[in-house]
Amino acid sequence: LMDGPLKGKHVLVTSGPTHEPIDPVRYIANRSSGAQGTALARALSALGADVTFVTGPADVPPPDGVKVVQVQTAGQMLEAVQAALPASAAVFAAAVADWRVARTSDQKIKKDQAGSLPVLEFAENPDILATVSQMKQGRPALVVGFAAETNDVIAHATAKRERKGCDWIVANDVSPATGIMGGSENAVTLISDQGAEAWPRMGKDDVARQLAARIAEVIGGDA
Ligand code: C5P
Repeated sequence: LMDGPLKGKHVLVTSGPTHEPIDPVRYIANRSSGAQGTALARALSALGADVTFVTGPADVPPPDGVKVVQVQTAGQMLEAVQAALPASAAVFAAAVADWRVARTSDQKIKKDQAGSLPVLEFAENPDILATVSQMKQGRPALVVGFAAETNDVIAHATAKRERKGCDWIVANDVSPATGIMGGSENAVTLISDQGAEAWPRMGKDDVARQLAARIAEVIGGDA
């Protein structure tokens, strides 16, 4: 393990999308690449943290030197997170599917020759960030969520922080005009009990390093 302000601290990071099965060969997914979560895990590890990286099927490979737990669904991600606790801090960068298919089919759903179309019914997935934020016992000292918004970023992210019960929300504007989604740069606002702090636009790796440094200020050393 690396030396640094987070030496000996266990930090959990979720990342990537989740895949929610429809039948054995089909699933519902989202466009998360896992880039920001991976950069964060790498930055935390570089500060000496003992990182558990719970990841859905991402486009980018996980960083070296972290404990990788690969999952597919939101349900599996919640189980993996609970199994990985306790941790000093938990950062939820995954793009977790809000819904799963209520009744998955054991067999591939066949095209109906008469032309009738399948109808999917959804069930709500567990909110992993809210579940961990609201733990009565064994809650990490610092719980950080993300919020991708397209409008009224600060108002929406502040409300999200309250609703979920996390300590910080890292909010960003993903409106198409910003070029942030799928791009290499990010412009985030850190929402805490101190209010909203707008960071200048910078590379996603730099956002990760700055955020890791801020996490170290809270849970690092003997804190
Ligand atoms: O509500 P929304 O999905 O915008 O919240 C985003 C934040 O909540 C992210 O930190 C994400 O990782 C987390 N989240 C979660 N479990 C869910 C939905 C979102 O952990 N089911």
